[in-house]
Amino acid sequence: MISKNTIDKVFEQSRVEEVIGDFVQLKKSGSNYKALSPFTNEKTPSFVVSPVKQIWKDFSSGKGGNAIAFLMEHEHFTYPEAIKFLARKYNIEIEETKINKQDKEKASERESLYIVSNFAKDFFKKKLNESEEGKAIGLSYFKERGFSLETINQFDLGFSPKEINCFSKIALKKGYAKDFLEKTGLSIFQNDKSVDRFRGRIIFPIHSMSGRVLGFGARILNNEIKSAKYLNSPESLIYNKSKVLYGIFYAKQEIAKLDNCFIVEGYTDVIQLYQKGIKNVVSSSGTALTNDQIILIRRLTSNITMLYDSDRAGIDATLRGVDMILSAGMNVSICTFPNGHDPDSFSLERSNQEIKDFLSQNSKDFIQFKASILSENAKDDPILKAKTINEIVNSISTIPDRIKQEIYVKHCSKIMDVSEEVLFNSLAQQNKNEVTYLSKRNINKIKKTPKNIKVDILFELEKKIIEILLLYGTQKEKFEELILKKDENGEVVMEPTIVESLVYEKIFLDLQQDEVEFTNESFKILYKAIINEFQKKGKLVIDVFLNSLEPDLSNHVTSILMNEDRYQLHDWLSKNIFVKDKNKVISQLVSETILSLRTYLINEKVKELQEETQKKSNNNNQILEEITDYYKLKSLLSNKLNRVL
Ligand code: CTP
Ligand code: MN
Repeated sequence: MISKNTIDKVFEQSRVEEVIGDFVQLKKSGSNYKALSPFTNEKTPSFVVSPVKQIWKDFSSGKGGNAIAFLMEHEHFTYPEAIKFLARKYNIEIEETKINKQDKEKASERESLYIVSNFAKDFFKKKLNESEEGKAIGLSYFKERGFSLETINQFDLGFSPKEINCFSKIALKKGYAKDFLEKTGLSIFQNDKSVDRFRGRIIFPIHSMSGRVLGFGARILNNEIKSAKYLNSPESLIYNKSKVLYGIFYAKQEIAKLDNCFIVEGYTDVIQLYQKGIKNVVSSSGTALTNDQIILIRRLTSNITMLYDSDRAGIDATLRGVDMILSAGMNVSICTFPNGHDPDSFSLERSNQEIKDFLSQNSKDFIQFKASILSENAKDDPILKAKTINEIVNSISTIPDRIKQEIYVKHCSKIMDVSEEVLFNSLAQQNKNEVTYLSKRNINKIKKTPKNIKVDILFELEKKIIEILLLYGTQKEKFEELILKKDENGEVVMEPTIVESLVYEKIFLDLQQDEVEFTNESFKILYKAIINEFQKKGKLVIDVFLNSLEPDLSNHVTSILMNEDRYQLHDWLSKNIFVKDKNKVISQLVSETILSLRTYLINEKVKELQEETQKKSNNNNQILEEITDYYKLKSLLSNKLNRVL
């Protein structure tokens, strides 16, 4: 784990505008920066970065947060990846905590394997582009396959010379440890003699989501030689083939932007499509798609299109993938290529538009795909047809979302010409052992679900209180309080007195006094978190605070903070309140909100009591007395409220 100290330093030193500025062209606009949203294809800028608050908000996609959140959204880093990225950017040394000796050794071994792999990548690249052998054999091969120099360079393609230990020799000379050369599989040691695993092959480095080299695929040049066409790095601490997707580093942005991911079989399929401008493409590199790979994609989109050969092996691989994708709650389409073609060979001689047209015209959803496997003449074969229908229902049953299931049942009923009823029955049977996935995110989502207007008012008031706390929590304001005093006749009276206090203290004490609890779950959590932060630290360091929240809450807080400039003024203007100085406004705002909330709650209480009196069995006198008390309180409050406004 990264130490708290390191994280604090990262937060202290990173500037949101600098971090985002590396990825997005920012233009100064008042005290903020503006830009076109990097998450949508908008025409007018609605992406705002606030250097003062150290946060950003994208009004077109609704996303927002601190610098870390930006890196997680834009670069699809995990939280630790984002911290490490910033630490590197700002030259902060990364301290790891709670790490035992074994883990420490593992971490440093992992780091060493990365370093060796990176060295190898550079070595192979250099050999391809600069050595006579590399140019004559490797580079010409890539060019023959239609790859441009730019593509070759971008994908870090390389060449490993034929000489038995060209790489290992130099790596050892440069001081790279034998152990790490062996563990990455780059070198094989036989009685102290080194042999290059990939000798005489062209090299495809395999990158992680964040761009580090994890391993290699190496293709033989001459198809006649009786040796495997591709050799791949063996599994290691850094390379786990079921967890990586070839091309994900290059494709991630486009996958998120287009909200779809193409999956192909091979390295060259990825590169060719990418070069043709279809960049949202990754490869499972010849192995069957795994759940880990699907989850990697799910960080970027929930839509997958599988592009597979139409041979039997291709179809079988596709079928296995389909159910896994569906059960991950994602949507899947399938596009098969004409016989004898893979996406690479198909695209080679075609333009971007031609390929796109082909993809959109030939992509089928999984039901159409499964139905289409049933050949024309088998349509009249009842046994085959039943088998196909069962297979489709089987796939549908793996979909976690019931509504989606129903839509697909209807669809299947049309395509396969069977009644929905039969399909639902069959589905119900398959569903028996089902597991329902409910994402935490959805449950926690701040939803405005007004059953009636009442709920709505309460929602607005609670929201307002959260807003005030976030924006002005630690400001000192003058409030009018009713203080108990003795008048000249010695009687105790309540006297309006101006008292100075911090906004959050005022709110906290007032709500505590009235025993007010928030009704909205999200606001309740936020309220506690904010007050806690103020009481502990006396302030709210926004970007740090955002980090401690669930994504949905954090996003909501960002919206509030960024909307301040947008709506605050407008709010007051619409109420026809003439504001002389902003300070006065805030104390008004606080008092008004709290009083409105109290009044609202009292009204509710009175209503409740009135309902009680309708019930005969009750002691009405006592209740009526209570109601009278509440009325008194209410009139007191509305007096106060009138004074405030
Ligand atoms: N593959 C592999 N080992 C092999 C054969 C294939 O790892 N012996 C993987 C590679 O990732 C390859 C993918 O499976 O890219 C698909 O294999 P194939 O279709 O045979 O190769 P292509 O990618 O089409 O490669 P090329 O066009 O260069 O023949
Ligand atoms: Mn191919």
